[in-house]
Amino acid sequence: MNVTRRNILLGGAACAALPRMAFAQSRPEELHAAAFDRQLLPDPFGKTKLWGYGPTSPGTEIRVAQGARIQRTLVNGLDQPTSTHWHGIRIDNAMDGVAGLTQDAVAPGSRFEYDFTVPDAGTFWYHAHDRSFEQVGRGLYGALIVEEPDPLDIDREEVLVIDDWLIDPENGQLADSFGNMHDLSHGGRTGNFTTTNGQYDLQLPARRHERLRLRLISAANARVFQLQIAGLEGWIVALDGMPLAEPRPVPETFLLGPAQRADLILDVTAEAGETAHLVSLERGEGFALATFPVTAQDAAARRDAPAPLPPNPVPRPDLAAATALDLRMEGGAMGGLRAARLDGDVQPMNVLAEAGQFWAFNGAIGKMDGPPLAELSHGEHVRLKIVNDTVFPHAMHLHGMHFREITEDGELGDLRDTTLLLRGETREVAFVADNPGDWLFHCHMLSHAAAGMMTRLRVG
Ligand code: C2O
Ligand code: CU
Repeated sequence: MNVTRRNILLGGAACAALPRMAFAQSRPEELHAAAFDRQLLPDPFGKTKLWGYGPTSPGTEIRVAQGARIQRTLVNGLDQPTSTHWHGIRIDNAMDGVAGLTQDAVAPGSRFEYDFTVPDAGTFWYHAHDRSFEQVGRGLYGALIVEEPDPLDIDREEVLVIDDWLIDPENGQLADSFGNMHDLSHGGRTGNFTTTNGQYDLQLPARRHERLRLRLISAANARVFQLQIAGLEGWIVALDGMPLAEPRPVPETFLLGPAQRADLILDVTAEAGETAHLVSLERGEGFALATFPVTAQDAAARRDAPAPLPPNPVPRPDLAAATALDLRMEGGAMGGLRAARLDGDVQPMNVLAEAGQFWAFNGAIGKMDGPPLAELSHGEHVRLKIVNDTVFPHAMHLHGMHFREITEDGELGDLRDTTLLLRGETREVAFVADNPGDWLFHCHMLSHAAAGMMTRLRVG
């Protein structure tokens, strides 16, 4: 038999290629955390060193169908330990990504396999959860989008990840002051340079009467964005990934705290030749977070109001049967906290400050390994009253379960995973403790979490 050289080569190549393809399919995708340089600032600044997944920032978008399984291998290419948290996903505790609580931190050069399913459709995000005041501040986050089973009646969708960076104007690099005393004890690390999807001048050409879905995600460490739309009109349809029972007309201005999300359905109402904007208001000035140059007219008129998004399968708490819990938030600059328990002993403020701790929950400096705020039985209904007895805003985030904000007239309000309390504010939330495990409950002003605003709920 005459075997030609050519056949042998082809056969050899095929044999080599096949197992590699099969291998690639059975292995989860990598989520590579590493430093990289990118052009973040306008001319004449050069590139800025960031950290990201991919590596890029925002990191590679993860987009799946409701109920899908997500598998990602975190590969730590940083020079410090890290972990990845899937913010807002009602997840198995072992996959929650909290270094020091649900897993060990992943050492530089090491890997960790995340494998979980996503029960809810909505706008979520993922971010580093070890030294997060630095790692998130350097760009380690990305969007996690879970699609509803049926497509919405929209023309297009934009995921807008908003962040503010603290840039050293001398060199155009991120200011290296992560974890300084002032950030820890005041409002946290607020930036001086705002981007959307890593761009300071994001332009999204649009057409008049086009219907957009905007998925807003705040990746800011501490800034509370005050947002406004111009040349656009529409509805908030979901908050923190969870659909509102009825679409709510977008108010004149609305707040988006750290880690919060808002899904908007908007019609472009600006005329062709004009521009529409998503605006951040600050001290009476407006900054465009996204600019929509209107290039043409789509339809003669706007469409009808959208239907609500299909609800997610989150159980409704029964307020009458709920266990009552209290959380008093104290401390910070100008907060009048004189002393608090630290590792079991009451310590005066100067000792706490020495330890870099400035905030207390119910009189104790919060720590990941401290006693839990409560031990709940599986399926227990809970109402939790949070009092912000400080002069700063805080965005309290519960891992593993969404809660309902209780409205002023005592009704179950919006489902959220992060609730914003302005200075002096009190809020009650309620939920069914249906997800077993130790769940972190902390302020998402990430410097505050590092300085005492952290506790956990144990669900049996
Ligand atoms: Cu988005 Cu504990 O975090
Ligand atoms: Cu806070």
